[in-house]
Amino acid sequence: MAGQAGPQGALGALRAPGAQMRSSSGGSQLDLACLEQLRLQGTEQVLDVGAGDGRFARAMARQLQPDGRLVAVEGSLDRLAAARGHAREDAEQGLVEFRQGSAPDLPLEDDERGEFDLVHARFLLEHVRDPSGVTASLIAAAHPGGRVVLVDDDHERLALWPEVPAVSALWRAYIRTHDRLGHDPFVGRRLAQLLHEGGALPTRVTVVPWASCAGCADWPDMVNDLAGVLGGARALMLAAGVASDTHVDAGLDELDRWSRRPEASLWYGLCWAEGRT
Ligand SMILES: C[S@@+](CC[C@H](N)C(=O)[O-])C[C@H]1O[C@@H](n2cnc3c(N)ncnc32)[C@H](O)[C@@H]1O
Repeated sequence: MAGQAGPQGALGALRAPGAQMRSSSGGSQLDLACLEQLRLQGTEQVLDVGAGDGRFARAMARQLQPDGRLVAVEGSLDRLAAARGHAREDAEQGLVEFRQGSAPDLPLEDDERGEFDLVHARFLLEHVRDPSGVTASLIAAAHPGGRVVLVDDDHERLALWPEVPAVSALWRAYIRTHDRLGHDPFVGRRLAQLLHEGGALPTRVTVVPWASCAGCADWPDMVNDLAGVLGGARALMLAAGVASDTHVDAGLDELDRWSRRPEASLWYGLCWAEGRT
């Protein structure tokens, strides 16, 4: 894919539920919950890898003002340009130092390697073919005793109620698309193991909730986000041979009908693991 980092391959186009959902107040339910879990002190030197559009990197960086610092690495030139553009639009150019580069070959200066207080990667490992190698490089970027936080999906955790068979079928196809392209759709459940194998001591795991129901103010955003995830993966699902256009259309139509039911509810949880080097 033009402008994309090598290791992520074509699957960089698949996105995780909630990853890009934003409220007009400047942060999604998921972002706020993740920030709470991060418990930033405000003085840390932070490295964020796979920063995407940079919005969450900037949300972290706001909590580091004026004493901390955040370097954000993104593999895709297009996304990097978008991240810089969003920062400019919000008059936050200096808040985050955005760099193009790809884990495991992180674009760090010699005096930055092994010096970060916190290395963070959210929704990165599900997009790489070698999560062990990437995790090892993240761990190596932190100083001895530093924190490494991995946050990622286990796509089996999604539950919609009442059941929506066409959406469930489409979700399974979406999961298989990761698998067909050599990426682990269940990497979330492996995060503590990846930390351990990379030489860090896993110290905390949790699940960050992402849930809503038809009566919630954020319901339209949640449903749109899920529809965007599934619709956005259409070409990849077709190319992987796991869904047809009819299959995708049926799933999206049923999702739309289901979302109008007053008792409709969606439950998801994001896997979080952190360790010390
Ligand atoms: C789903 S986005 C996550 C964005 C952000 N971390 C967040 O939580 O909102 C994943 C990003 O990781 C980037 N990426 C994938 N593989 C990468 C790699 N090996 N090195 C650096 N970035 C990578 C993709 O280009 C994409 O922008």
